[in-house]
Amino acid sequence: MTRQAMPSHEPASLDSRPPGSQPPEATGARPIGVLDWLRCGPFLAHLVVTRRCNLSCGYCNEYDRTSSPVPRQIVEQRLEKLRELSTWMVCLTGGEPTLHPDLLPILASMKDLGFRRRQIITNGYRLGEQLVQGLNAAGLTDLQISVDGVRRNATTFKVLDVLRGRLELLARLARFRVVVSAVIGSAPPSEALEVVRFTKGIGLTPRVILLHDGSGGLRLSPEELEAFKEVKQLLGRGGRESGDYRERLIEQGAAPFRCRSGSRYLYVDEFGKVHWCSQTREFFSKDLSEYTLEDLKAQFHAGKSCADQCTVGCARSASAYDAWRRQAPAAG
Ligand SMILES: C[S@@+](CC[C@H](N)C(=O)[O-])C[C@H]1O[C@@H](n2cnc3c(N)ncnc32)[C@H](O)[C@@H]1O
Ligand code: SF4
Ligand code: SF4
Repeated sequence: MTRQAMPSHEPASLDSRPPGSQPPEATGARPIGVLDWLRCGPFLAHLVVTRRCNLSCGYCNEYDRTSSPVPRQIVEQRLEKLRELSTWMVCLTGGEPTLHPDLLPILASMKDLGFRRRQIITNGYRLGEQLVQGLNAAGLTDLQISVDGVRRNATTFKVLDVLRGRLELLARLARFRVVVSAVIGSAPPSEALEVVRFTKGIGLTPRVILLHDGSGGLRLSPEELEAFKEVKQLLGRGGRESGDYRERLIEQGAAPFRCRSGSRYLYVDEFGKVHWCSQTREFFSKDLSEYTLEDLKAQFHAGKSCADQCTVGCARSASAYDAWRRQAPAAG
């Protein structure tokens, strides 16, 4: 299996899902039963609402400059289907989800449908007072924004110099949880520390993510490693994610786990296809409209040969709950 860069599209925190919690209540669709949901139901689905992006970060393989937004009616059909599968949390992503002209009505539908947590991941460029108030009113519960450094460079424009004002605006107005990810890998590593300090200073929640290279590996320079350790210290307990898998990847070159993608975590692309994650789109694909409890069960038990090197943090978090349960060996 060949691999590309492995973004960590992590939810604000799956760990805050209450243990033994119930799936959303029925709102018209027919959710899968509580027992089946406890056994293999989705905790998190990433739903691509447009592949188009207004930026072109040098490390990213998940955007284009030309796609049209997925029509609202189709997004809502997909949401209904995710609801029927009793999905706990839905995160709208892309490309850049704030480019979608119907973002706010879509979020309002997510609330009406009964999803407990309703998130977007954004590059923050389009955030202004009107949009933040709109997100409040539409019932957004979580927003994730990653800040690659302080100053623009050849790889990224997602930097504090541009986003400082937008982050302050969020700190002032947002009624949803805002997680700011400081990124190590596309700017001088000391800049990540500045992002964390700034984030804490204005009262938002900081975390740290590492960029991955074109083969999915985490290869850090000694300076980046040093910065990563410092940032983790600054973050305290919040700096450790999914059993510190990043340390194991860095130090041992592998961090095996039982990946439950296709059941606990779903990645739904702009064509309505379910994939294990954004980086394995060519390995597993099935129409969401035809996805059933049997698919959830089958993918729960399917071993994934990419798991040892996996850097998709949200899939690791969503899989942690079932770490003790058996899984078939990976095919191939
Ligand atoms: C594909 S973007 C889509 C949402 C939005 N455009 C944004 O940038 O937040 C989702 C997340 O993937 C991250 N990402 C993209 N390429 C990555 C890579 N090679 N390594 C780690 N994270 C990556 C981005 O930083 C962002 O947090
Ligand atoms: S803003 Fe997001 S989707 Fe756009 S290129 Fe950067 S990481 Fe990719
Ligand atoms: S282990 Fe799972 S989440 Fe990680 S790359 Fe493979 S399929 Fe994707």
